[in-house]
Amino acid sequence: MKEEVKVFAPATVANVSCGFDVLGFCLSPIGDTVIVRKKEQPGVVITKIVGQDLPLDTKKNVAGVAAEALLEDLQSNQGFEIEIHKGIKAGSGIGSSAASSAGAVFGINALLGNPYTRNELIKFAMKGEELASGTPHADNVSPALLGGFTIVRCGKGPDVISIPTPPDLYATIIHPKIELKTADARSVLKKNIPLDKAIQQWGNLAALVSGLFKADYELIGRSLVDVIIEPERAGLIPQFDAVKLAAKNAGGLGSGISGSGPSIYTLSKGKENAENVRTAIAEVFAPLQIEFDTYVSKINTQGVAIID
Ligand code: HSE
Repeated sequence: MKEEVKVFAPATVANVSCGFDVLGFCLSPIGDTVIVRKKEQPGVVITKIVGQDLPLDTKKNVAGVAAEALLEDLQSNQGFEIEIHKGIKAGSGIGSSAASSAGAVFGINALLGNPYTRNELIKFAMKGEELASGTPHADNVSPALLGGFTIVRCGKGPDVISIPTPPDLYATIIHPKIELKTADARSVLKKNIPLDKAIQQWGNLAALVSGLFKADYELIGRSLVDVIIEPERAGLIPQFDAVKLAAKNAGGLGSGISGSGPSIYTLSKGKENAENVRTAIAEVFAPLQIEFDTYVSKINTQGVAIID
Protein backbone atom coordinates (compact mmCIF):
# COMPACT_ATOMS: atom_id res chain seq x y z
CA MET A 1 0.00 0.00 0.00
CA LYS A 2 1.22 3.56 -0.78
CA GLU A 3 2.80 5.72 1.91
CA GLU A 4 2.05 9.07 0.26
CA VAL A 5 -0.47 10.55 -2.18
CA LYS A 6 -0.73 13.89 -3.96
CA VAL A 7 -4.32 15.03 -4.44
CA PHE A 8 -5.84 17.76 -6.64
CA ALA A 9 -8.79 19.25 -4.74
CA PRO A 10 -10.88 21.46 -7.06
CA ALA A 11 -12.62 24.77 -6.52
CA THR A 12 -16.42 24.72 -6.44
CA VAL A 13 -19.40 27.04 -6.81
CA ALA A 14 -21.99 26.75 -4.03
CA ASN A 15 -25.56 28.05 -3.78
CA VAL A 16 -25.98 28.31 -7.61
CA SER A 17 -28.52 31.14 -7.24
CA CYS A 18 -31.76 29.52 -6.05
CA GLY A 19 -29.96 26.61 -4.30
CA PHE A 20 -28.67 28.33 -1.17
CA ASP A 21 -26.78 25.82 1.00
CA VAL A 22 -27.96 22.86 -1.12
CA LEU A 23 -26.77 23.08 -4.76
CA GLY A 24 -23.17 23.23 -5.94
CA PHE A 25 -20.91 22.34 -8.86
CA CYS A 26 -17.27 21.57 -9.41
CA LEU A 27 -14.71 23.59 -11.42
CA SER A 28 -11.65 22.34 -13.33
CA PRO A 29 -8.86 24.85 -13.71
CA ILE A 30 -8.20 25.88 -10.14
CA GLY A 31 -7.75 24.01 -6.87
CA ASP A 32 -5.52 23.12 -3.95
CA THR A 33 -2.87 20.42 -4.04
CA VAL A 34 -2.86 18.36 -0.85
CA ILE A 35 -0.05 15.91 -0.10
CA VAL A 36 -0.86 13.31 2.54
CA ARG A 37 1.70 10.87 3.93
CA LYS A 38 1.61 8.24 6.64
CA LYS A 39 3.67 8.78 9.75
CA GLU A 40 4.63 6.42 12.55
CA GLN A 41 3.12 8.28 15.51
CA PRO A 42 -0.71 8.51 15.73
CA GLY A 43 -2.40 11.86 15.11
CA VAL A 44 -2.58 14.46 12.34
CA VAL A 45 0.10 17.08 11.76
CA ILE A 46 -0.04 19.90 9.19
CA THR A 47 3.61 20.19 8.18
CA LYS A 48 3.45 22.94 5.57
CA ILE A 49 1.06 25.41 3.94
CA VAL A 50 2.31 27.06 0.78
CA GLY A 51 0.71 30.11 -0.83
CA GLN A 52 -1.24 31.50 2.11
CA ASP A 53 -0.93 32.37 5.75
CA LEU A 54 -3.23 29.81 7.40
CA PRO A 55 -2.92 28.03 10.77
CA LEU A 56 -0.71 24.94 11.02
CA ASP A 57 -2.43 23.97 14.27
CA THR A 58 -4.49 20.89 13.37
CA LYS A 59 -7.46 21.99 15.49
CA LYS A 60 -7.56 25.41 13.81
CA ASN A 61 -7.06 24.19 10.25
CA VAL A 62 -10.03 22.99 8.17
CA ALA A 63 -8.06 20.07 6.69
CA GLY A 64 -6.83 19.11 10.16
CA VAL A 65 -10.27 18.92 11.79
CA ALA A 66 -11.73 17.07 8.79
CA ALA A 67 -8.87 14.54 8.91
CA GLU A 68 -9.27 14.03 12.66
CA ALA A 69 -13.03 13.50 12.28
CA LEU A 70 -12.38 10.68 9.78
CA LEU A 71 -9.77 8.96 11.96
CA GLU A 72 -11.96 9.22 15.04
CA ASP A 73 -14.93 7.69 13.21
CA LEU A 74 -12.71 4.85 11.97
CA GLN A 75 -11.08 4.45 15.39
CA SER A 76 -7.74 4.43 13.56
CA ASN A 77 -4.40 5.07 15.26
CA GLN A 78 -2.62 5.59 11.95
CA GLY A 79 -0.87 8.96 11.93
CA PHE A 80 -0.73 11.35 8.95
CA GLU A 81 1.20 14.41 7.82
CA ILE A 82 -0.60 16.89 5.56
CA GLU A 83 1.01 19.45 3.29
CA ILE A 84 -1.27 22.00 1.60
CA HIS A 85 -0.40 24.01 -1.50
CA LYS A 86 -3.15 26.63 -1.73
CA GLY A 87 -4.33 27.35 -5.26
CA ILE A 88 -7.59 28.91 -4.04
CA LYS A 89 -7.53 32.08 -2.00
CA ALA A 90 -9.38 31.94 1.32
CA GLY A 91 -12.52 34.09 1.30
CA SER A 92 -12.80 34.04 -2.50
CA GLY A 93 -16.20 32.31 -2.69
CA ILE A 94 -15.05 29.35 -4.76
CA GLY A 95 -14.70 26.79 -2.01
CA SER A 96 -11.21 27.35 -0.61
CA SER A 97 -11.85 25.68 2.76
CA ALA A 98 -13.89 22.92 1.13
CA ALA A 99 -11.05 22.03 -1.24
CA SER A 100 -8.48 21.64 1.55
CA SER A 101 -10.89 19.60 3.70
CA ALA A 102 -11.98 17.39 0.80
CA GLY A 103 -8.37 16.88 -0.34
CA ALA A 104 -7.23 15.83 3.12
CA VAL A 105 -9.97 13.29 3.78
CA PHE A 106 -9.75 11.92 0.23
CA GLY A 107 -5.98 11.43 0.55
CA ILE A 108 -6.20 9.78 3.97
CA ASN A 109 -9.02 7.51 2.79
CA ALA A 110 -6.92 6.43 -0.21
CA LEU A 111 -3.89 5.63 1.98
CA LEU A 112 -6.13 3.55 4.27
CA GLY A 113 -7.43 1.44 1.35
CA ASN A 114 -10.69 3.39 0.82
CA PRO A 115 -12.79 2.33 3.83
CA TYR A 116 -15.27 5.11 2.93
CA THR A 117 -17.01 5.99 -0.35
CA ARG A 118 -16.63 9.54 -1.71
CA ASN A 119 -20.16 10.27 -0.51
CA GLU A 120 -19.35 9.03 3.00
CA LEU A 121 -16.35 11.39 3.16
CA ILE A 122 -18.67 14.43 2.92
CA LYS A 123 -19.62 14.33 6.61
CA PHE A 124 -15.94 14.55 7.62
CA ALA A 125 -15.10 17.37 5.18
CA MET A 126 -18.11 19.30 6.54
CA LYS A 127 -16.30 19.58 9.88
CA GLY A 128 -13.83 21.85 8.10
CA GLU A 129 -16.70 24.02 6.82
CA GLU A 130 -18.06 24.25 10.34
CA LEU A 131 -14.70 25.53 11.56
CA ALA A 132 -14.42 28.03 8.70
CA SER A 133 -17.93 29.49 8.70
CA GLY A 134 -19.64 28.37 11.90
CA THR A 135 -22.10 26.25 9.90
CA PRO A 136 -21.45 22.69 8.59
CA HIS A 137 -22.83 23.42 5.11
CA ALA A 138 -22.07 20.73 2.49
CA ASP A 139 -22.74 22.59 -0.78
CA ASN A 140 -19.01 23.07 -1.54
CA VAL A 141 -17.52 19.84 -0.13
CA SER A 142 -20.09 17.67 -1.96
CA PRO A 143 -19.22 18.76 -5.52
CA ALA A 144 -15.52 18.86 -4.55
CA LEU A 145 -15.70 15.17 -3.55
CA LEU A 146 -18.24 13.88 -6.09
CA GLY A 147 -17.68 16.19 -9.08
CA GLY A 148 -20.44 17.63 -11.29
CA PHE A 149 -23.57 19.11 -9.72
CA THR A 150 -24.73 17.90 -6.32
CA ILE A 151 -27.78 18.56 -4.22
CA VAL A 152 -27.73 18.31 -0.43
CA ARG A 153 -31.05 17.11 0.91
CA CYS A 154 -31.41 18.27 4.48
CA GLY A 155 -31.17 15.58 7.06
CA LYS A 156 -28.55 13.66 8.91
CA GLY A 157 -25.72 12.12 7.03
CA PRO A 158 -26.10 14.31 4.95
CA ASP A 159 -28.10 12.88 2.04
CA VAL A 160 -26.23 14.06 -1.10
CA ILE A 161 -27.44 13.36 -4.63
CA SER A 162 -25.41 13.76 -7.85
CA ILE A 163 -27.22 15.57 -10.69
CA PRO A 164 -26.24 15.00 -14.36
CA THR A 165 -24.09 17.68 -16.04
CA PRO A 166 -25.28 18.84 -19.49
CA PRO A 167 -22.37 18.24 -21.89
CA ASP A 168 -22.03 21.81 -23.23
CA LEU A 169 -22.27 23.62 -19.91
CA TYR A 170 -19.39 25.96 -19.05
CA ALA A 171 -18.80 28.27 -16.11
CA THR A 172 -17.13 31.67 -16.16
CA ILE A 173 -15.86 33.01 -12.84
CA ILE A 174 -14.72 36.48 -11.92
CA HIS A 175 -12.90 36.73 -8.61
CA PRO A 176 -12.51 40.32 -7.40
CA LYS A 177 -9.57 40.21 -5.01
CA ILE A 178 -11.32 41.41 -1.91
CA GLU A 179 -11.91 39.04 0.99
CA LEU A 180 -15.46 38.27 2.04
CA LYS A 181 -15.75 35.85 4.95
CA THR A 182 -18.60 33.35 4.75
CA ALA A 183 -19.45 33.98 8.41
CA ASP A 184 -19.86 37.70 7.65
CA ALA A 185 -21.92 37.05 4.51
CA ARG A 186 -24.17 34.75 6.56
CA SER A 187 -24.60 37.32 9.28
CA VAL A 188 -26.48 39.69 6.90
CA LEU A 189 -29.17 37.10 6.12
CA LYS A 190 -32.68 37.41 7.51
CA LYS A 191 -33.92 34.42 9.49
CA ASN A 192 -37.45 34.36 8.03
CA ILE A 193 -38.65 34.16 4.43
CA PRO A 194 -41.99 35.49 3.13
CA LEU A 195 -44.13 32.71 1.65
CA ASP A 196 -44.33 34.27 -1.84
CA LYS A 197 -40.52 34.41 -2.05
CA ALA A 198 -40.17 30.83 -0.80
CA ILE A 199 -42.61 29.64 -3.50
CA GLN A 200 -40.62 31.38 -6.25
CA GLN A 201 -37.36 30.00 -4.90
CA TRP A 202 -38.38 26.36 -4.69
CA GLY A 203 -40.06 26.62 -8.11
CA ASN A 204 -36.78 27.89 -9.56
CA LEU A 205 -34.69 25.25 -7.80
CA ALA A 206 -36.92 22.39 -8.95
CA ALA A 207 -36.88 23.79 -12.51
CA LEU A 208 -33.09 24.21 -12.44
CA VAL A 209 -32.58 20.60 -11.38
CA SER A 210 -35.03 19.50 -14.11
CA GLY A 211 -33.09 21.61 -16.63
CA LEU A 212 -29.84 19.90 -15.62
CA PHE A 213 -31.43 16.45 -15.98
CA LYS A 214 -32.91 17.30 -19.39
CA ALA A 215 -29.89 19.31 -20.62
CA ASP A 216 -32.41 22.08 -21.33
CA TYR A 217 -30.15 25.14 -21.42
CA GLU A 218 -33.01 27.65 -21.78
CA LEU A 219 -34.74 26.25 -18.72
CA ILE A 220 -31.45 26.36 -16.78
CA GLY A 221 -31.09 30.04 -17.73
CA ARG A 222 -34.69 30.90 -16.75
CA SER A 223 -34.26 29.19 -13.39
CA LEU A 224 -30.99 30.82 -12.27
CA VAL A 225 -32.88 33.32 -10.16
CA ASP A 226 -32.39 33.91 -6.43
CA VAL A 227 -35.09 36.06 -4.83
CA ILE A 228 -34.00 35.39 -1.23
CA ILE A 229 -30.24 35.44 -0.59
CA GLU A 230 -28.86 37.44 -3.53
CA PRO A 231 -30.80 40.63 -2.72
CA GLU A 232 -29.32 40.52 0.82
CA ARG A 233 -25.73 39.89 -0.28
CA ALA A 234 -25.41 41.69 -3.63
CA GLY A 235 -24.44 44.96 -1.92
CA LEU A 236 -21.33 43.26 -0.50
CA ILE A 237 -19.95 42.70 -4.02
CA PRO A 238 -18.72 45.59 -6.17
CA GLN A 239 -20.38 45.85 -9.60
CA PHE A 240 -22.55 42.79 -9.04
CA ASP A 241 -25.54 44.00 -11.08
CA ALA A 242 -23.29 45.35 -13.86
CA VAL A 243 -21.48 42.01 -14.12
CA LYS A 244 -24.76 40.11 -14.30
CA LEU A 245 -26.05 42.37 -17.07
CA ALA A 246 -22.79 42.24 -19.06
CA ALA A 247 -22.75 38.43 -18.80
CA LYS A 248 -26.34 38.16 -20.02
CA ASN A 249 -25.68 40.52 -22.95
CA ALA A 250 -22.60 38.48 -23.89
CA GLY A 251 -24.63 35.28 -24.20
CA GLY A 252 -24.55 33.83 -20.67
CA LEU A 253 -27.51 31.78 -19.47
CA GLY A 254 -27.50 33.35 -16.00
CA SER A 255 -25.21 34.51 -13.20
CA GLY A 256 -25.15 34.66 -9.44
CA ILE A 257 -22.95 35.02 -6.39
CA SER A 258 -20.51 32.11 -6.16
CA GLY A 259 -20.86 30.73 -2.64
CA SER A 260 -20.89 33.66 -0.27
CA GLY A 261 -18.91 35.87 -2.72
CA PRO A 262 -17.11 37.94 -3.74
CA SER A 263 -16.68 35.72 -6.83
CA ILE A 264 -19.50 35.79 -9.37
CA TYR A 265 -20.29 32.82 -11.60
CA THR A 266 -22.03 32.66 -14.99
CA LEU A 267 -23.22 29.49 -16.72
CA SER A 268 -23.14 29.40 -20.53
CA LYS A 269 -23.89 26.95 -23.30
CA GLY A 270 -20.60 26.26 -25.06
CA LYS A 271 -17.05 27.50 -24.58
CA GLU A 272 -17.37 30.38 -27.03
CA ASN A 273 -20.20 31.98 -25.06
CA ALA A 274 -18.29 31.39 -21.80
CA GLU A 275 -15.22 33.15 -23.25
CA ASN A 276 -17.37 36.06 -24.52
CA VAL A 277 -18.78 36.38 -20.99
CA ARG A 278 -15.24 36.42 -19.59
CA THR A 279 -14.29 39.32 -21.90
CA ALA A 280 -17.47 41.27 -21.11
CA ILE A 281 -17.23 40.98 -17.31
CA ALA A 282 -13.50 41.76 -17.33
CA GLU A 283 -14.42 45.02 -19.11
CA VAL A 284 -16.78 45.88 -16.25
CA PHE A 285 -14.00 45.44 -13.69
CA ALA A 286 -11.08 46.87 -15.68
CA PRO A 287 -11.70 50.55 -14.74
CA LEU A 288 -11.97 49.77 -10.99
CA GLN A 289 -9.10 49.88 -8.52
CA ILE A 290 -9.74 46.22 -7.65
CA GLU A 291 -7.53 43.40 -8.90
CA PHE A 292 -9.41 40.42 -10.26
CA ASP A 293 -8.94 37.00 -11.87
CA THR A 294 -11.22 35.34 -14.40
CA TYR A 295 -11.57 31.66 -15.25
CA VAL A 296 -13.50 29.66 -17.83
CA SER A 297 -14.17 26.08 -16.82
CA LYS A 298 -15.99 23.10 -18.18
CA ILE A 299 -17.91 21.56 -15.29
CA ASN A 300 -15.53 19.11 -13.62
CA THR A 301 -17.43 15.83 -13.40
CA GLN A 302 -14.60 13.95 -11.70
CA GLY A 303 -14.06 15.95 -8.51
CA VAL A 304 -11.08 15.45 -6.22
CA ALA A 305 -8.44 13.17 -7.75
CA ILE A 306 -5.09 11.58 -7.00
CA ILE A 307 -2.47 13.08 -9.29
CA ASP A 308 0.59 11.20 -8.01
N1 HSE B 1 -23.78 28.09 1.26
C1 HSE B 1 -22.67 28.78 1.83
C2 HSE B 1 -23.04 30.25 2.02
C3 HSE B 1 -21.51 28.64 0.89
O1 HSE B 1 -23.39 30.88 1.04
O2 HSE B 1 -23.02 30.76 3.13
C4 HSE B 1 -20.26 29.34 1.34
O3 HSE B 1 -19.27 29.13 0.37
